[in-house]
Amino acid sequence: MAKFGAVSRRFLRKPNETMRLIISVTIGALFGYFIGISFPSVSITKLHLPSSRISYVEDKSSGLSTQALLNHAWENVKNKMKKNETKTSVDSKKIYVPTNPRGAESLPPGIIASESDLYLRRLWGNPTEDLPVKPKYLVTFTVGYAQKKNIDAAVKKFSQNFTILLFHYDGITSEWDEFEWSKRAIHVSAKKQTKWWYAKRFLHPDIVAPYDYVFIWDEDLGLEHFDPEEYIRLVRKHGLEISQPGLEPNRGLTWQMTKRLGDREVHKETKEKPGWCSDPHLPPCASFVEIMATVFSRDAWRCVWHMIQNDLVHGWGLDFALRKCVDPAHEKIGVVDSQWIVHQVVPSLGGQGESTNGKAPWQGVRERCRKEWGMFQNRLSDAERNYFASRLYSPPNSTAKGGV
Ligand SMILES: *[C@@H]1O[C@H](CO)[C@@H](O)[C@H](O)[C@H]1NC(C)=O
Ligand SMILES: *[C@@H]1O[C@H](CO)[C@@H](O)[C@H](O)[C@H]1NC(C)=O
Ligand SMILES: *[C@@H]1O[C@H](CO)[C@@H](O)[C@H](O)[C@H]1NC(C)=O
Repeated sequence: MAKFGAVSRRFLRKPNETMRLIISVTIGALFGYFIGISFPSVSITKLHLPSSRISYVEDKSSGLSTQALLNHAWENVKNKMKKNETKTSVDSKKIYVPTNPRGAESLPPGIIASESDLYLRRLWGNPTEDLPVKPKYLVTFTVGYAQKKNIDAAVKKFSQNFTILLFHYDGITSEWDEFEWSKRAIHVSAKKQTKWWYAKRFLHPDIVAPYDYVFIWDEDLGLEHFDPEEYIRLVRKHGLEISQPGLEPNRGLTWQMTKRLGDREVHKETKEKPGWCSDPHLPPCASFVEIMATVFSRDAWRCVWHMIQNDLVHGWGLDFALRKCVDPAHEKIGVVDSQWIVHQVVPSLGGQGESTNGKAPWQGVRERCRKEWGMFQNRLSDAERNYFASRLYSPPNSTAKGGV
């Protein structure tokens, strides 16, 4: 409380200074705009421009002629805005559109851009000509630099039809520029985070909306026998909303479902050890793929994203719950056998843990994985129980009226 008071007092004492700051920031932005126009070849790597522009303008030693120029531009804009204000205030009707996205009700619908993309644009030229290709697929890898050879080989499999997004868990990013494709990739860096942590934060369905399919993949996969374009053709053909390539070899395989079958394009069910499946249509016998190399359709991802918990970063248990997002799950979840991958089983992130109580880092990570699995299962079953209980006490009107 005291701290807050002190801060606000400090601002109140010098209102002029605050005002000046706001104005110079605005002018800085305008000035930057002119710079942007006059030097169109500014490279992307210099994109910390806004702050440097502002400090340039605030610099007391900057020439008077620049100041005058800016003042002139500012006056011009102010005048124009004033004219428009008086014109609109006469016949003004306040805009309120309840069907707009929450919080944007005061905007005319025509200006709302509620979805985005990960397309890299240029700083000059005509925006409509920025993108010769608009990739329809997105592939993400969660990577450490130690796996660069493997990732280089993997990424080269993906054509211009894919946006490449790398999540770096070791903080090393610019070193990847030794690879030509790195320049067209998007690099997101946050140390020691997991695939699902990144996915929750950077793959919001509204941001990856233009992509028909999203690949959310680990770094330790061998793609020698994998053609992404052909994979997508098969996924479309067989109506798979959630899928993964078959795994080879059999070594260290936990579930039969993800094992590659050599004699077909896809499979959607399997036989497990006796007693493992309560129902042939339920995991791990069907409606199930693992989370190491999952491919989601746009609609399936929109649902799955909402199920990812912010604090459960390893995603254990998510594979068994994917079926909640597609219906019927045993037909829309499956494994593509004729485009298959090699799981190399590199416990990369496991080594990024902390050793506690004399235990190796990977042990702590493994324990947390298991704990999260239990927590996720409990949350999901609680949520379902609460939902059905609430329906029981206040049945929906349609049923009460004896409708359909
Ligand atoms: C003022 O309104 C006109 C048309 O109504 C528009 O073209 C112009 O950009 C507006 N100017 C400003 C500064 O908002
Ligand atoms: C990229 O997509 C286009 C349009 O779907 C297709 O014609 C083209 O063959 C694809 N590129 C590759 C390398 O498969
Ligand atoms: C059910 O109907 C009542 C009265 O017609 C209405 O107040 C209520 O909002 C309705 N509930 C639902 C869930 O539609």
